[in-house]
Amino acid sequence: MFKKLDILDERDKRLRLISREVTFPISKEYKSLIQRAIDHLTYSQIEEYEKKYNLRPGMGLAFPQLGINERIIIIVNEVDDGVFENYVVINPQIVSNSAEMVAVEAGEGCLSVNREVPGQVLRYARVTIEGFDEDGNKIRVRAREDLSVAFQHEIDHLNGILFFDRIDPNKRFYSDIEIRLI
Ligand code: NI
Repeated sequence: MFKKLDILDERDKRLRLISREVTFPISKEYKSLIQRAIDHLTYSQIEEYEKKYNLRPGMGLAFPQLGINERIIIIVNEVDDGVFENYVVINPQIVSNSAEMVAVEAGEGCLSVNREVPGQVLRYARVTIEGFDEDGNKIRVRAREDLSVAFQHEIDHLNGILFFDRIDPNKRFYSDIEIRLI
């Protein structure tokens, strides 16, 4: 049975805390919450379920958005029509990044931000992330384009940063001459 997650709204102060490093082994409760986050994000990207369960589409979540200030992120990336790749990274760190920056043309969204915020966020076009899987095994992920943006957005949540903090109020939008828009 699918049960929608309770996701904190941007006004909740817990979203502004620096989250703790996770110690292994992780609890059954955390594992089940991770699975629920994967289901929630997957369903939110499938029109039929999005409507049925009244979900906002989203590709990523971080544990602080569930009221738990621990360093766990979950990303569900649609790589092809109806084909999804899941990433669960615990204690994630960006170990290298491209010099090239990009911005999502339409601006970023966040499941904790229930309003339109006009503006674009500069992000690395490519990042390499290191961290651990649910069983404590070391993992490394290379991400580019949308997936790279998603990783940077979710890791920001672990440091109490919301995407609109990174929008320059004096320059909310860029042209594709200034930055590559994706
Ligand atoms: Ni977010």
